[in-house]
Amino acid sequence: VQEGEAISSAAFSVSDAILSRHSCRSFTAQPVSIASIRRLLDTARFAPSGGNLQPWIVHVLSGSAMARFRAQLTPGFLANPLAGSAEYHVYPPELKQPYRSRRHKNGEDLYRLIGIPREDKAARHRQFAQNYNFFGAPVGMFFFLDRSMGPPQWSDLGMLIQNIMLLAREQGLETCAQESWAIWHEEVAEFLRVDSAFMLFCGLALGYGDTASPINRLRTDRAALDEFAVFHE
Ligand SMILES: Cc1cc2nc3c(=O)[nH]c(=O)nc-3n(C[C@H](O)[C@H](O)[C@H](O)COP(=O)(O)O)c2cc1C
Repeated sequence: VQEGEAISSAAFSVSDAILSRHSCRSFTAQPVSIASIRRLLDTARFAPSGGNLQPWIVHVLSGSAMARFRAQLTPGFLANPLAGSAEYHVYPPELKQPYRSRRHKNGEDLYRLIGIPREDKAARHRQFAQNYNFFGAPVGMFFFLDRSMGPPQWSDLGMLIQNIMLLAREQGLETCAQESWAIWHEEVAEFLRVDSAFMLFCGLALGYGDTASPINRLRTDRAALDEFAVFHE
């Protein structure tokens, strides 16, 4: 994978899927069939979980349900994208180094790529608000956990979500995990009629990436292997 390369072709190995996955933030309107989505989830469900609890609930929005969601809720979210409040800390309130710098760089790289300067807060908000349109994706997913579950089960849910993101690559599809939905958990749960025993962890946009869109050229870096792995030989 070349840095800055827009990926749209399908992935055929696990490495290929991992290296070609990136967060897609502009989708075409091309629909994804229910059969494709079902196939994806039907394989993703084999994710491991501690004690095989499989502590996940997934709600999928597409077709006319997605149209209804967009008509009813999206205008309010776009008008005031930061007005909601999350039930959990998406990041620790005091983000330590090196995490703080990494988060900062991620935002700066993204906005620089699409030509939005730091001072233009309104433009940054408008771009952030696109989360609440699933960046134009035809399919949205919401992931819930039973409230009685703790951090180990949140990690199990992450494994399911990663399976979904990698399997999407196999079908030439792109994704963006979206914790930004956490601030609108009440509205989302009400629309989907999810029992209050479950809490929203995050959403996910799914569809075909718009390869012409500059924002999709963002490729994020990672700490080198020896910065996080310790080998005891
Ligand atoms: C659980 C989770 C939640 C995320 N939430 C958002 C989000 O709300 N909006 C967004 O644009 N990106 C979101 N991201 C994408 C991350 O910013 C992205 O994964 C990270 O910067 C690495 O870039 P890459 O996915 O392109 O490799 C999320 C990623 C994860 C794993």
